[in-house]
This record gives sequence, structure tokens and C-alpha cells, in this order.
Amino acid sequence: MRDSLPKTIFLKDYQVPEFFIDTTDLHFTLNEDSAVVRARLAIRRNSASSSVAAELHLMGQELKLQSIAIDGQPLSKADFEVTSEFLIIPNVPDEFILESVVEILPHKNTSLEGLYKSSNLFCTQCEAEGFRKITYFLDRPDVMSVYTTTIVADRSKYPVLLSNGNNTEKGVNGDGTHWARWEDPFRKPCYLFALVAGDLECVEKGYTTLSGKNVDLKIFVEAKDTDKCDHAMSSLINAMRWDEEVYGREYDLNIFNIVAVDDFNMGAMENKSLNIFNTSCVLAKPETTTDAGFQRVEGIVAHEYFHNWSGNRVTCRDWFQLSLKEGFTVFRDAEFSSDMGSRTVKRIEDVTLLRTVQFSEDAGPMAHPIRPDSFIEISNFYTVTIYEKGAEIVRMIAHLLGEADFRKGSDLYFDRHDGQAVTCEDFVKAMEDASGKNLIQFRRWYSQAGTPLLTVSGSYDRDGRTYTLNVEQSCGPTPGQKEKEPFHIPLLMSLVSASGEIPLNILGSDDEAGRPRGEMVLDITESKQQFIFTDIPEEPVPSLLRGFSAPVKLSFDYSRDQLMFLITHDTDGFCKWDAAQQLGVRVLNDMVSFYQNDEEMLVDQRLLDAYRAILNDNDLDPAMVALILALPSEAYISELSDEVDVLAINAARKSARKIIANELQEDFWRIYKGHSNNLPYQPTCDQIARRSLKNCALDYLMLLEDGSALESCLAQFSTSSNMTDVLQAFIAIINSPHKDKKQTAIGDFYDRWENEPLVINQWFMAQALCSATGTLDDVKKLMNHAAFDITNPNKARALIGAFTSQNSVNFHQPDGSGYRFLADQIIVLNEINPQIASRLLGPLTKWRKYLPSSQQLMKVELNRILAISDLSKDVYEVVTKSLAV
Ligand code: TRP
Ligand code: ZN
Repeated sequence: MRDSLPKTIFLKDYQVPEFFIDTTDLHFTLNEDSAVVRARLAIRRNSASSSVAAELHLMGQELKLQSIAIDGQPLSKADFEVTSEFLIIPNVPDEFILESVVEILPHKNTSLEGLYKSSNLFCTQCEAEGFRKITYFLDRPDVMSVYTTTIVADRSKYPVLLSNGNNTEKGVNGDGTHWARWEDPFRKPCYLFALVAGDLECVEKGYTTLSGKNVDLKIFVEAKDTDKCDHAMSSLINAMRWDEEVYGREYDLNIFNIVAVDDFNMGAMENKSLNIFNTSCVLAKPETTTDAGFQRVEGIVAHEYFHNWSGNRVTCRDWFQLSLKEGFTVFRDAEFSSDMGSRTVKRIEDVTLLRTVQFSEDAGPMAHPIRPDSFIEISNFYTVTIYEKGAEIVRMIAHLLGEADFRKGSDLYFDRHDGQAVTCEDFVKAMEDASGKNLIQFRRWYSQAGTPLLTVSGSYDRDGRTYTLNVEQSCGPTPGQKEKEPFHIPLLMSLVSASGEIPLNILGSDDEAGRPRGEMVLDITESKQQFIFTDIPEEPVPSLLRGFSAPVKLSFDYSRDQLMFLITHDTDGFCKWDAAQQLGVRVLNDMVSFYQNDEEMLVDQRLLDAYRAILNDNDLDPAMVALILALPSEAYISELSDEVDVLAINAARKSARKIIANELQEDFWRIYKGHSNNLPYQPTCDQIARRSLKNCALDYLMLLEDGSALESCLAQFSTSSNMTDVLQAFIAIINSPHKDKKQTAIGDFYDRWENEPLVINQWFMAQALCSATGTLDDVKKLMNHAAFDITNPNKARALIGAFTSQNSVNFHQPDGSGYRFLADQIIVLNEINPQIASRLLGPLTKWRKYLPSSQQLMKVELNRILAISDLSKDVYEVVTKSLAV
């Protein structure tokens, strides 16, 4: 147990800062075994603060204070107090200069927040509260300051010295060191501060903004990686153009730098003009990077760039407002990716993430609104709820306002709040003011957690030619929120017949002039509502929640034949795919009960017919075919179950896939052969679509008992020149029953890619995800592999994270060995890197979803973690919340 209980921070306790820091002058001396940080802060009392105490509290952690002075007068020990979290100076004037000197230990900093070393590179990560590990400061986003940074370091080891803003001066010292001074003209919160020092090469390009400003774009990487920067560079340029065209937002400095680092807790960080990226989110080339990797680079480069406006120019008042910048920026990057590629495919991918990961978070012990009311450790709130559900809330606002008014709203938001630290309320208010629309009830999306359920039923009256939809909404309890008020849910729908969308007229509404539309938004605002559509010539099938117009669960009692009809006739790509998912869920649930009752495993013929029709529909985007043919994932089926029977779900899906492979093998062969080509690799939408379908076919073909696809698969593995095809073949081989081929492929893959750490991470992950029995032992062996390193988050995620969160059958072994393994790793990581430890804990916290015997075993491990001394706040918060009743 920890010796002191960490305290909970509440939104309702928010108070404006007692002091401001107008300018921040930093001086870093980077030595081999330590760094010295001198800070000169211009501090001023905030006249708007109600507090009149003369006391100043600066945050600081793991800092060795060497000296401190106010207005040039050194303070003595009696003049201040240092605790493990604060520097307290009881008596300060209303306006003064504070100078401090601290020593820190970047090379011992394995938490990867603050200033740390990643191999031979010094770098920083300050969001959310890492700046306090660099110097004593008011580490809160509503304290904004103008920064000047001077860096001194060995000239040969660290030729590149970077910080935010412009490089105004530099020089060489006689002792083998050199220095550089950077000045950032924009006021910013300290979480956007960044510093980098290392031996890096850069790839460079020029960009001219619409108004004619020239910007130098540079991507800094290790020399061996300069051949992997082109995709990030073109993504950046596309993102800059897109933000000018779609949001009217230009870049505001003459330089924009990106630095790639190996050791990084998240994907990337939007520090002002000095974005720092996990190598996995910036490096890409066809030989080493999959299509998904290319798309991730494009999306994250854009995401961080877009933060320059949604996050940096307009920032958050406090961390409860995190979704203000993250939800909005995810919405922006999703729209960007949709414009660069296939909108429907992007939407399906995002909804899949939301429905599996976010819905299960919202149904579990860590459920929180997109604007949480409280937290113990803010790092635990960088969640799919804040990011992805947050983006869905912004998307709904965009839907409700329409394109033109949404743009007016974003213009007003950026103009009104430029240079300020604001709240989600300010965002919604700007949207209301610009559009004249009322979002009062809509605001509940910010304060209520949980996934609303829409229960819809429909009936057709042939004589009256009307179709009636009854819509009910409800939302189950979440921690701290028993009862919920109704949400404002935009339900985009249409009524589909064999000849297409039927024009919609609602009884009792005088619709705007003009022709009735085939699609409309129903505003769901009450717990029960009825809509009657008139002049409906024949019985339609409703197409509901088109484009996934709201982050809700929808239940409509479709017959399987109606689902078949929607798969072929729905004019909304998302709903077409979703109809196939719903049919797939029914079929898999049938098979789960066959398995549980020891009956023969049969696949409903209708699913096979639907799949065959899709495989032979030449008008469909091949990516859509692949998405439709992928049965619902185990994770999705689990999310939909009240009590997850892991073994049964795994067995059901496996048998279903085998049966589908057998039934449709000729179609799969035709597709596999027809989509193989030798075109030079490009990460274009069209090529990605073809590869996804081809590899979907290969995956099915590899399930054939006769092993007839093995040869093609081995050939694809050893001769393909792109990682997408190589990795897909590799995964198919190691999941096949051919044990000898599996071992050879594992060895060959390693020998070939030994020197590419990102590819080796894929190799770890593929093995961790192997569904064969015995994978836990393989994972344990891989933990001792020379290429594994638990201090590197990418590697920890590739092996431990993938195994425990995505390999259900192997993780949930009835003897609890998977749970014990995870708890052992959490205990190790708690010391090394609390943020990563706490993230990897996820699978254990969902214990309530599993069979009673598993629940017991999972709780034993959670309690074992809770019992250790020195438990980090991060892990403490997640363990205690998951064990709470
Ligand atoms: N603001 C970053 C993003 O979403 C998130 C981030 C990067 C982060 N690194 C972090 C959050 C470390 C917490 C800790 O783009
Ligand atoms: Zn972000």
C-alpha cells in the first residue's frame, strides 16, 4: 500500500491562478549525468484572484534546488519551504523576478515525462504536468508565458539544439560545448514547452501559406531514418493546405519542426513549432511500413499540426477541459483523413474503435464524461472517451449546425478566444452564438458519462400509407451518476425500398419549402418520441443512425431478411456495412450457443449468401468488401455480451471463418489472384483498398484444411516488397497449423528486419497475438529476447499490451496465468514508467464482464498490485476505481 493516499482534484474547486508568469527565461546546461536548469520568471499577482495571501506555491517534482533569489536577493533556507511537490515562499511582493537553479537527472528519468534521454537524444514531454519535473513553476495551462530558452551542450554529441519559436542566436564555447538561444513570440502554457538536443539529420521542405508567408518545414531523425520522412512531409503539407481551405487557419511562424524519438509514452506531442513524435508515428517507407502505418502517420502528423490552432493558439483553462482540444482536433484530423482517402472506410474504422474500446470504457469502472468532474492523475484521462467520443460530440454539433454555420462557429471560437485558455463551455457558446441554435440540452453530452441506448421500433400502415417510428432513449448508470437526463441525439435516417430512398414527409411538421428529402435528421430529445411519415407507398426498411450520426447503441428488431436487404440496398455506406455487422453478430451469437450446448457449429446460410453477393459486386469499393467480409471482432461480440464467455466466442468465430472459407473458396481465389499485381507501392486509397481485400481473401484461404493456400502465402511472405503484404502473410503463417513453417518464418523475419526496431515491434506483436495455445510461454520467452526492452513503451505495448488486450483466449486462461503475468509486468513498470503501467492495466479492470471464476482470479491480481509499496498515483487510481463497488 502507498503510505499516503493521493488526493482527488475536482472541477468544482477550480480557482483562477493567484499569480501569473509573464516571461520565462530558461537556461539549460546538458551534462552527461545531469542537467542544470536556471529559470528567470517575471511573476505578477493576479488581481482577479480572491486570495490575498502573500504565499507563492510553485509546483516542482524530483528537482534538486541549488539556489533561489527574488529580485536579485538570494533566499536563505528560512525564507522558503520545499516539499515533494511544491516550493512554498511565504512572503512575496506583488510583482517580482524569481530566479532559481535546479539540478535534474534526465538519464535516470524512465517515466518519459519532463526532460529525459532517449538513446543519445535529450528531449522533453511536458503535457500534462511534466514541466514541473524541469523547473519550479505554475504548471497549469491557464498560466501563459513568453519563453526564451538557451541550451548549452557538447558540440560533437549534440550538434542539434532545438526549442520553441525562432533560433535567434548561437555560438561555440572554448570547452567543446556550443549553445543556441530560441525565442517563442507566442504566449503559451508550459505544457507546450519543448527542448531537443542530439545528433540528428533533417529532411527539409519549404511551404508558402495562402497569404504568402514562407515556412521552413524540417523533420529531424537519426541518420539511418532519413529515407523514411517523405510521407510525413507530404502529409504535413497536405494538412497545412487543408486547414487553410477548410478552417481558414494559417500557420503563424516561419519554422515548423518535427523530431522523431524512440522512447515516447504516446503517439506525438504538439509543442509550439517543435512537435515531438514517437518514431512509429512519423517514419514510413513501403518496405518497412504497413498501409495502416502510413495512414497513422498521415493522421497523427495532421492531428499535431491542427493543434496549432485547436490547442495552442486557443488552449485549455484546466485539464478537465482536455476534450476541448483533443475532441475537436480528432474531429479535424478525421475529416482531413476522410478528404484524403475514403470517407466511408475512415468512418467505419473510427466507429469500430468507438464501439469496441470506447463503449467498453463507458460501461466499465473508469467511465467518465468527456469533461470529467474529478481525477487523481490526469495522465489517466487521455482516453478514448476524451479523444474519440469527444470528437463524436463535435461531429454532432457540426451535423446540427450544418457546414456553413459550423464554420462560422469555429471562426468565432478562434477569433474570440485567440491567445486565451478556455473551457468546453466557451466552445459550445461560440457555436450557439454564431448559428443562433440552442444547444442547452446538447450540453449534457459534456457532463453525463455512459453510452445512450436508442430502442427503435417501426410499423407500416398499408391503408393509411404511413410509417411510424417509435424511439426511446435510456442510459445506464456509470460511477457517480445513477440517473441520466435525456440526451439531445441527432438521428440521421431514411426509409429504404427496393427502388431506393423514399421521400420523407413527417406528419404535423411543415417542412421547409422544397422537395422532401430522402434522408433527414430526427432530433431525439425526450425519453420517448414518435414520428409518423406520410405518403409511404410501400413497406420500407428503415436505415437508422446513418453515418453513425451519434455515439449511441441502437436497437431495432430487424429480421435477418431485412438485414440482407440493407446489405444490398442501403444507400448509406456505413449502414450497409453495419447491417452486415448486425447479421454477423446474430450468426456468431447462434454459434456461441451451439458451442455452449455442444451442438453442431452451423453458419446461417443467409450470411454466406450475403457474403457471396458482396464478393461478386463489382461496383463496390474493394475496401468496403473487405470490411463487410470481416466478421465482427471478438472484442465487439464481447462488448455486446453481459457475461463474456471468451472460449465460446473464440471458438464460434474460428469455426464461422472456416466455414465461410470453405463455402466461398472459389471467390476468394479469384479475388486473391485478381488483386495481386506488381505495381510500385503507393499508399493511395485505391491501392490500400485492393491490398486489404486481397489479404482478407488470403486470410480466409489459409483456413482451408487442404493447405492449398500455403504456397502462395509463403511466396507472398518472401517475395513481396511491401510490409503490408509481408506482414499479412507472416501473420497468416504463424497462425496456421504448419508449425515448422511458423518457426522458419519467425526466424527469417527477424534476420531480415533485425536493424529496423519498428518492424521488430510488429514481429513481437504478431507473435503476441497468435491464437494458438502456448502463446503465453512464447511471450514470456520473447521478454528475454535481446531486441526486447521493457523501458521502451512501443515494445512494452507490442508484446505485453497486444497479448493482454487483444489475445483474449490466451490472456483469459482458466488457471489465471495470463492475469498473473500481466500483474507481474505492471509491478515492474510501476517503478519504471507509471503512465505505461497504468495503461497496460486496462484488461484487468474489466473483470466484472467475465465468468465468476475468472473474476476471482482477476481480483486477486488487482489486490496484489494494490498491496505493493510505492504504488504510483497512476496505477493507484485505476486499481482502486476498478475494485470499488
Ligand atoms: N497532446 C498529445 C496529443 O494528443 C497527447 C500526448 C502526447 C500526451 N504525449 C503525452 C499526453 C504524454 C499525456 C502524456 O496529440
Ligand atoms: Zn491531440
